[in-house]
Amino acid sequence: MAHELPTTDIRISADLIRRRKGGTPIVCLTAYTYPFARLLDEHVDLLLVGDSVAMVLHGLQTTLGASLEMMIAHGQAVMRGSAKACVVVDLPAGSYEDSAAQAVASARRVVDETGCQAVKIEGGVDMARQIAAIVAAGIAVMGHIGLLPQSVEKDGGYKIKGRTEENVEALVRDALAVEEAGAFSVVIEGTVETVAADITHRIAIPTIGIGASRDCDGQILVIDDMVGLTVDRVPKFVKEYADLRSVISHAAASYASEVRSRTFPGSDHVFSAKNRRDDL
Ligand code: KIV
Repeated sequence: MAHELPTTDIRISADLIRRRKGGTPIVCLTAYTYPFARLLDEHVDLLLVGDSVAMVLHGLQTTLGASLEMMIAHGQAVMRGSAKACVVVDLPAGSYEDSAAQAVASARRVVDETGCQAVKIEGGVDMARQIAAIVAAGIAVMGHIGLLPQSVEKDGGYKIKGRTEENVEALVRDALAVEEAGAFSVVIEGTVETVAADITHRIAIPTIGIGASRDCDGQILVIDDMVGLTVDRVPKFVKEYADLRSVISHAAASYASEVRSRTFPGSDHVFSAKNRRDDL
């Protein structure tokens, strides 16, 4: 069935998100597809086309398999489905780390080909040059510090950050570097609650927590985790607000049973030779 595209496109800008620091918490979710963008747009301030798409939709083991082309294709789908939210697209691993010029070229391509409002990159002090260069090129950047999924191999697994004094100091340096480089906000992932709260109070840009603290200026979750679609283990920080696994499984079981018993399609789902009023 053909859906009409949203007619309004009065978007929440990255600058508006920045100005929400300390105000009503900023509501963020990931989205990777057109139908989810259509459903989520009215409820959130920001939709992130995260590189988690590589794991969530493509079944890869880590986010390292995401490519620029994959991010652009999902970014385009989300942009088609959303009219209001600030849409941010992740730059995938391998597309920005080498140099500021590489980061700007990748960010430019993502923004030009999707029309999104901003890009996100992982890293603090080590990525400050890249963030500053992208911002100088006129593209808004969201930072990402704490547990960095793109560094999972280097870190030897998904490790919660902020458990040693040295690590806390490094996290604070990362947050300050991301702010100083001009990011409009920063995701804090998988970080001890008090450390995430402290960083939130120390920097002037909004912090968006995931496995962090309710004191953050906003929260984000992976949509499939949040609606109970994730088939593998969900992380501790996820709250499942629905159980779509069961809904889909029951629907598929009912369909299979009706097909096998020849009760589907029923008379409502077929066309007669005479009656044209019931045509599509
Ligand atoms: O890729 C992603 O979904 C993310 C969020 C978890 C913040 O980076």
